[in-house]
Amino acid sequence: MSALSILLVGASLLGSSVAAGSYSISAATASSEASELTVSSHVLELSRKTSAKGYNARSAAFLLGMSRASKITVSNHTSILESLFIGEEFATNITFGTETFESIVDTGSSDTWVVESGFECVDVETSAPETEAYCDFGPVYNVTDSFQQIPDENFNITYGDGEFLTGVVGYETVTLAGITVNQTVALVNYAAWEGDNTTSGLIGLAYPALTSAYAGTDPTLDNSATGEQIQYSPIFKTMYTDGLVSPLFSLAILRDISGDSGYLALGGLPPVNISGDFTSTPILITNIEGYLETYDFYTINIDGITIDGRTERGSSGATQYIVDSGTTLNYFPTRIADAVNDAFVPPAIYDEDEGAYIVDCSATPPSLGIVINGTTFYTNPLDMILLAGTDEAGDDVCITGIDDGGSDAAEDVYILGDTFQKNVVTVFDVGAAELQFAAREYYPSNDPVKA
Ligand SMILES: *[C@@H]1O[C@H](CO)[C@@H](O)[C@H](O)[C@H]1NC(C)=O
Ligand SMILES: *[C@@H]1O[C@H](CO)[C@@H](O)[C@H](O)[C@H]1NC(C)=O
Ligand SMILES: *[C@@H]1O[C@H](CO)[C@@H](O)[C@H](O)[C@H]1NC(C)=O
Ligand SMILES: *[C@@H]1O[C@H](CO)[C@@H](O)[C@H](O)[C@H]1NC(C)=O
Ligand SMILES: *[C@@H]1O[C@H](CO)[C@@H](O)[C@H](O)[C@H]1NC(C)=O
Ligand SMILES: *[C@@H]1O[C@H](CO)[C@@H](O)[C@H](O)[C@H]1NC(C)=O
Ligand SMILES: *[C@@H]1O[C@H](CO)[C@@H](O)[C@H](O)[C@H]1NC(C)=O
Ligand SMILES: *[C@@H]1O[C@H](CO)[C@@H](O)[C@H](O)[C@H]1NC(C)=O
Repeated sequence: MSALSILLVGASLLGSSVAAGSYSISAATASSEASELTVSSHVLELSRKTSAKGYNARSAAFLLGMSRASKITVSNHTSILESLFIGEEFATNITFGTETFESIVDTGSSDTWVVESGFECVDVETSAPETEAYCDFGPVYNVTDSFQQIPDENFNITYGDGEFLTGVVGYETVTLAGITVNQTVALVNYAAWEGDNTTSGLIGLAYPALTSAYAGTDPTLDNSATGEQIQYSPIFKTMYTDGLVSPLFSLAILRDISGDSGYLALGGLPPVNISGDFTSTPILITNIEGYLETYDFYTINIDGITIDGRTERGSSGATQYIVDSGTTLNYFPTRIADAVNDAFVPPAIYDEDEGAYIVDCSATPPSLGIVINGTTFYTNPLDMILLAGTDEAGDDVCITGIDDGGSDAAEDVYILGDTFQKNVVTVFDVGAAELQFAAREYYPSNDPVKA
């Protein structure tokens, strides 16, 4: 996650790649010292195992024996987000024992981890040893008695951009947004990571199916007969099963890149104004490769995508999207990504090397709408162009907020990243197994006629 890479933190998938990403800013206000644009290409290959059953949408209320709160109110447990890399990723404070760290907020993975002192840093591409500075973490965690290691388990995760980590697993007293739990966490002692000099870890808010603890102490044997996955309760599940908060959280990501850059609100809504009602849609039980058919990512079906008022649909029923705060860009099926990018004036051109669509920083973006359960959520034009860096001549290089998520196939899963999320409040209603979206009030160009 060097300053110019499109961040691919979010979703994780062992042995495969998933996306995570970057996010957008107003080209006019952005600045960056970095000089080279490095974006992994074709990062998104989130394929769902085809099975006779396909996916189901089932109520978690049924599974969990919980019923949905009748009215969601503003949360008393809100944590302010900070924007890093000019809005490519979002972090908040989390306390392990008595040590507080800024950590990336990720709805596309499930482990909460922090890097520990004395960790080994390696090159992301080659695994060659590097100095700690290469990994560019914030402060390291100094192990104290409050951490209780679980013997004979290890942690091993690979994120969508190729970054990978291993470490130990244990219990720690963890506080997030004012709620304290005894939580299973990972301490990272081996890292192939390109950090931001601020964050020390990550807060994974997805389902237990994606947790990355394994039997044994040798990570190279993970996913083998002697290194089976050992699922555990991720931090938010621990909080609501302990009865400390109702089983939903919400996220409002702001496009502001300084000061408060958003809110993670546990048990209720964030303190932002919305316009209109919430639209809900079931969280899908999926069968993404490598995992059992269960809740894993926050996956939903969308009805379609509108480009300047005309509706596009995945050509073979490709409608499954994960809602991932750890992914900067939106990843659409190739044909739709091409259509959106072609509708910029002048058109954005896909660049293999950059793995993104390069666009004139002062281009006019098309009106983009994501249709969810009959409601169209428009994307502010400001979120459609990201400053990615500067070229050799010192000129700004911009990319679009929409990237190519791969073949337009029914078994593929695409991503609604921060490009989308900056325009809505998302309620992750785990108890009801629904995501709820409401447009945010203060974005004046939500109206496609004005955009
Ligand atoms: C916030 O706290 C107030 C006062 O304790 C309580 O009445 C209210 O239900 C709480 N709201 C939420 C969403 O927990
Ligand atoms: C995290 O805590 C530090 C120290 O209290 C504070 O300076 C910083 O603003 C906090 N960050 C966020 C995002 O709240
Ligand atoms: C851990 O110890 C190191 C070295 O003493 C220190 O630099 C670092 O700030 C400590 N970490 C925290 C979170 O206090
Ligand atoms: C946390 O939970 C584990 C497992 O139940 C337990 O062994 C440990 O003592 C607990 N730690 C604290 C501080 O309560
Ligand atoms: C990283 O952060 C430290 C502590 O805040 C600061 O002293 C250092 O200059 C930063 N390094 C870079 C490369 O920004
Ligand atoms: C993580 O697990 C995979 C198997 O799932 C293994 O191939 C890999 O070597 C492990 N990572 C490390 C750094 O040991
Ligand atoms: C929300 O709307 C109210 C009433 O218009 C306004 O006073 C308030 O400042 C707005 N809050 C935010 C966070 O924009
Ligand atoms: C649409 O919303 C209604 C009302 O909340 C809900 O019952 C239905 O399952 C939703 N359908 C889809 C496809 O999201």
